Amino acid sequence: MQIYLNENLSAYHTFGIEQHCQVLVIVNTVAELIDVYRRPEWESLPKLMLGKGSNVLFTEFYEGVVIVNRLQGIDVREDSDHYFLHVQGGEDWPELVKWSISQQMPGLENLAMIPGCAGSAPIQNIGAYGVEFQDVCEYVDYLCLNTFQVIRLNRAECLFGYRDSIFKHQLYQQAVVVGIGLKLAREWQPHREYGPLQQLASDCSPTEIFECICDVRTRKLPNPELTGNAGSFFKNPVLSGEQFQSLKAHYPDVVSYPTPQGVKVAAGWLIDQCGLKGFQIGGAAIHAQQALVLINKEDATASDVIQLAEHVYRCVYEKYGVALEHEVRFIGRHREVYLSMLIKEQQS
Ligand code: FAD
Ligand code: EPU
Repeated sequence: MQIYLNENLSAYHTFGIEQHCQVLVIVNTVAELIDVYRRPEWESLPKLMLGKGSNVLFTEFYEGVVIVNRLQGIDVREDSDHYFLHVQGGEDWPELVKWSISQQMPGLENLAMIPGCAGSAPIQNIGAYGVEFQDVCEYVDYLCLNTFQVIRLNRAECLFGYRDSIFKHQLYQQAVVVGIGLKLAREWQPHREYGPLQQLASDCSPTEIFECICDVRTRKLPNPELTGNAGSFFKNPVLSGEQFQSLKAHYPDVVSYPTPQGVKVAAGWLIDQCGLKGFQIGGAAIHAQQALVLINKEDATASDVIQLAEHVYRCVYEKYGVALEHEVRFIGRHREVYLSMLIKEQQS
């Protein structure tokens, strides 16, 4: 285990904003992870499990222990119908996808280039281009922080939803994902329903889908190594039929997709139609190619990003009556915080 005190977090999260934490530890084994949670000198400190930091914003100094997940290893089993991958939580997700395709184990190609660790993928049930983590998940192994036992949940028990899982609710702050099980069918079916994938032939290969997605993502989304960001800043709101009809009556061009839970509306479209592309507060800006992505354009502070997020929230709410929820997880001094709390604090 490596331990750093008063560490600058800018290299540990993709917004790349300078912010420090009291203690940062890098863990390579489950035994080290348990040690961090049991150490008497850190017992009273809050703890935050971190993968690659590609879905977090540190809003201020973190007075606690940031634990960086570097549990490594991939085991493969196969039978006549499937490949079964057991992947340790700290493995890099985009590398895993690339490697699986190169090994002729298709199934993850639609989830190419999503930054982060394998162990973070179930937390928000990562999704892109018509596929979600739940579609390839067989099980998730987590360390229970009450008993320090590793417990296995099958896919149904993970209660996956759109950018959602049991780890954000019943198991919030009680579980650290240490490994995932993926089940990939040998009899591969392409998922090419989503936008640019429709132009591919029906007998296209997994590599063609992988390359098409890498191409689209490279064009649309800013590369965090060059421009700090955390992907989509807000979730796409899911509206009831009634709410959607009233929105559609005023904005007939609104981009939307039916889902079993309601109508999903493209938040990027809502923000874009407010004329906000390229809008900047301090060093934080709205990405010029994708209005749902907030970027660290010029040495942004966390406060710049928060003010910009508030501005977007207000513009969208005032124009459409739709309250956006942020997908990016805000980490405050002692615990997770939310934009709504920060807005209220400012008003009081
Ligand atoms: P982190 O940001 O380190 O952590 C995210 C949250 O999960 C934090 O609350 C953290 O405490 C918690 N957490 C992390 N690891 C564990 C663990 N082992 N156990 C328990 N809790 C844990 N997401 C999508 O769904 N689809 C996309 O297409 C997509 N595109 C993106 C594109 C870009 C350019 C960027 C920067 C981000 C994108 N994202 C996307 C968001 C991000 O990639 C995912 O949320 C990813 O799963 C985050 O992984 P991470 O390891 O960086 O998690
Ligand atoms: N749009 C605009 N203007 C914009 C952006 C989008 O008009 O500036 C409209 C376009 O019509 C476009 C539609 O919105 O067709 C949807 O945009 P896009 O296909 O780029 O996808 P998204 O809804 O913005 C979601 C996910 C992404 C995921 C892509 C591809 C959420 C919150 N975001 O984005 O995930 O990669 O679909 O499946 O669900 C992430 O979660 O971090 C992330 C990047």
